[in-house]
Amino acid sequence: MNIAVVGTGYVGLVTGTCFAETGNHVVCVDIDAAKVNKMKNGQVPIYEPHLDVLFERNIRQGRLHFTTELKEAIDKAQVIFLALPTPPGEDGSADLQYVLGVAADLGKIITDYKVIVDKSTVPVGTAEKVHAALAQHASEDLFDVVSNPEFLREGFAVDDFLKPDRVVVGTSSDRARKVMEDLYKPFVRQGNPIIFMDERSAELTKYAANAFLATKITFMNEIANFCELVGADVDKVRIGVGSDSRIGKRFLFPGIGYGGSCFPKDVQALAKSGADAGYEFQIIRSVMEVNERQKTSIVPKIKDYYGGDLKGRHFALWGLAFKPDTDDIREAPALYLIDALVAAGATVSAFDPEAMENVKKLKGDKIAYAHDEYEALKGADALIIATEWAEFRTPDFQRVGSTLKEKVIFDGRNLYDLDLMEEQGFTYLSVGRNTVNAPVAAKA
Ligand SMILES: NC(=O)c1ccc[n+]([C@@H]2O[C@H](COP(=O)([O-])OP(=O)(O)OC[C@H]3O[C@@H](n4cnc5c(N)ncnc54)[C@H](O)[C@@H]3O)[C@@H](O)[C@H]2O)c1
Repeated sequence: MNIAVVGTGYVGLVTGTCFAETGNHVVCVDIDAAKVNKMKNGQVPIYEPHLDVLFERNIRQGRLHFTTELKEAIDKAQVIFLALPTPPGEDGSADLQYVLGVAADLGKIITDYKVIVDKSTVPVGTAEKVHAALAQHASEDLFDVVSNPEFLREGFAVDDFLKPDRVVVGTSSDRARKVMEDLYKPFVRQGNPIIFMDERSAELTKYAANAFLATKITFMNEIANFCELVGADVDKVRIGVGSDSRIGKRFLFPGIGYGGSCFPKDVQALAKSGADAGYEFQIIRSVMEVNERQKTSIVPKIKDYYGGDLKGRHFALWGLAFKPDTDDIREAPALYLIDALVAAGATVSAFDPEAMENVKKLKGDKIAYAHDEYEALKGADALIIATEWAEFRTPDFQRVGSTLKEKVIFDGRNLYDLDLMEEQGFTYLSVGRNTVNAPVAAKA
């Protein structure tokens, strides 16, 4: 099939590449000329594991192309995917200007039947708005609008796309349904379902899934906070709770809050959609409040350790991305940590395997950037961990201890066993667990 993908970010580029991988002919279009140039030169503009191999292969085999021209991209396409940004507007609702803008542009240029697929995360009723934007300029028999929300996770995006748990397709058109079924069949050969439904239900399915996952993490974060007060160990509680198959083991790891380009904005947008419809999402409001607090929940622990004053203290920060295996820093808790530490008079030297360039663009020389995790430790009073990259899991603790001024670790992701920290002689403060080698009195 001939496919066009509009928007080549984390979703669009993975979508385009994976559809090319199953033999389709794909043209990806983006307004960011620098990005398109990079891709034309064979460079992947984001960090996403395994994407480079598929990207290179499909370019080499002539199935994957890039352009800045919408008309050129959609000319031969039977299906057009919209993988455009839907950032939060000032009132928290999803900003639809990119999606509706492109829909209107498409209405002006389509001349034969196209299935227009909304892959962006959009509020209930958007498919109707996209339909109306197209219909302003194009005859209604030239297109169908389908809602096909994307559930991939950054860091596992290629695998998630190639082997999805499910594919959700919202459409009331039999013709579009058949096209979508043919397109996705190769991805669900193991029997995972393509779930067809109406457009509105498909749109809501994406928000409900993300809000549920954000709630699950946040619930466990609250249990962790409570563990700290009553001397329980959240790791034990997590395993005990997660062994119940009704609850499940995943998404129960406590930490310094969720971030990223999806959960924060999608949870907020669902709350706003609820309010617009006259419904108060109480759980979701609480989830947002608790997560806001959680993002800097480690700061009071650090301040307590230093007797309330961080002026002149210098910290090593491991991890900047909102989670491992991505260079995405949107709403990353590390950014909030940096702001809080610097505001309190401390300095920071950070290291992240992939996200340093993106943070440099945002924070400039507000912090120092180290070449590796050990360089970040030089001259630091303590180590703070904000992202659970695999390479931080088993460092050379002897080197860590001898490079830091003091053997102190504040771990926002619970990377290390308490016994090991005890054995290595670190003072170790994590989330929802007892402090190892707690100081007898606060530091002056
Ligand atoms: N990132 C994720 O993990 C993820 C997962 C599921 C769903 N989503 C949703 O998918 C959508 C896209 O997210 P993303 O993370 O890929 O965004 P992104 O910001 O990484 O990429 C969006 C791309 O669209 C391009 N663009 C903007 N306006 C354009 C236009 N008029 N024409 C062509 N290109 C244009 C931008 O230059 C950018 O490259 C959002 O609605 C998001 O909520 C994201």
